[in-house]
Amino acid sequence: TGMFTYDPGFLSTASCQSAITYIDGDKGELLYRGYPIEQLATNCDFMETCHLLLYGELPNPTQKADFTKLVTNHTMVNEQMQFFLRGFRRDAHPMAIMTGLVGALSAFYHDSTDITNPQHREIAAIRLIAKMPTLVAMAYKYTIGQPYMYPKNNLSYAGNFLHMMFATPCEEYVVSPVLERALDRIFTLHADHEQNASTSTVRLCGSSGTNPFAAIAAGVACLWGPAHGGANEACLNMLTDIQKMGGVAKVGEFMEKVKDKNSGVKLMGFGHRVYKNYDPRAKLMQETCKEVLAELGLENDPLFKLAMALEKIALEDDYFVSRKLYPNVDFYSGIVQRAIGIPTPLFTAVFALARTSGWIAQLNEMIGDPEYKIGRPRQLFTGSVKRDVKPIATR
Ligand code: CMC
Repeated sequence: TGMFTYDPGFLSTASCQSAITYIDGDKGELLYRGYPIEQLATNCDFMETCHLLLYGELPNPTQKADFTKLVTNHTMVNEQMQFFLRGFRRDAHPMAIMTGLVGALSAFYHDSTDITNPQHREIAAIRLIAKMPTLVAMAYKYTIGQPYMYPKNNLSYAGNFLHMMFATPCEEYVVSPVLERALDRIFTLHADHEQNASTSTVRLCGSSGTNPFAAIAAGVACLWGPAHGGANEACLNMLTDIQKMGGVAKVGEFMEKVKDKNSGVKLMGFGHRVYKNYDPRAKLMQETCKEVLAELGLENDPLFKLAMALEKIALEDDYFVSRKLYPNVDFYSGIVQRAIGIPTPLFTAVFALARTSGWIAQLNEMIGDPEYKIGRPRQLFTGSVKRDVKPIATR
């Protein structure tokens, strides 16, 4: 049993070689294909980021126009999806619905089922990036009982998502450029993050040669958890609870609970396996938060004030300082999403929409790697020694 390295939680095991995303956790640095996240979030949009992740380079104007055209060609989903969606309860969690809907895509496209075929992978990649906003918006419309809005391909990727979320057949949704830009930035900041739990899940699932849509559905399922993508929803719920308890005045009391290991209470949106410094995405998200709140005249948003107060205490408190716990991407993203009008239970679905680009890029990279093998971890066996089955009457 001593033959294998035992590394629970993969603290020191590299599961693959990858050339996509680089994180320097001590410096708090994040690069997609060598480009700093700050520059991508400021100078590029999500379509350019997707192109970068998938093909390795930022597009030139022609490549960008072609790529965007290709994506917009695939924004609709099969009408049958409506019937599948109808099987869910109206109060189903959007991530439960998304796990189902993305998995269901694998039943529709017989020209993109073979993960080992580069053409199949390519078309599956485009379909997934194109259809995720449509599916998230459909899940939302279903839960509130409104008709689905078809995608509008003259809008930007983010603008189209806002349209499908908030327009109705009786009323256009006028897309505010500031909100559209903020949402696009949320997408870029969430696009990839090397071998996190959901990406590793997608790789492991895909390594068996399964259908590419099914592999991404596995990623959606993993992302749902509050230790991972579900932290944005959990963080906003936490802020709302503190607000109900009395707001900024109760921050000290709440922090005592967080520091008490027996309480089971964590400061959601804080801490990271890799970052032992400020998560650069959190910094950008905080800036975006300020811009969006200013645009909407919500500078005094109580939840933003609360988040700032929690962060201030945490950055000075020995509990957090000694453990190198800093805000992560989820700490401010919920406040931005909420200001845009996205309801809390949908936050993680928006994360999944954006992360689909990274998942698919990582899946492509894995299958294209000549050293790729099915992922098959070993174990240290701790169970019973060999023994004989007794007849049931004598047990
Ligand atoms: N609040 C209070 N204490 C914390 C927190 C927190 N948010 N995060 C870590 N700690 C403590 C933890 O209890 C442990 O203390 P000790 O050494 O005394 O046992 C120490 O800090 C190290 O933490 P860990 O749990 O061993 O670290 P990990 O790398 O296994 O977990 C994490 C990382 C992100 C799961 C964890 O920090 C956490 O649960 N954070 C809250 C949830 C969250 O915000 N998740 C989002 C992650 S970022 C993006 C994403 O994936 O969505």
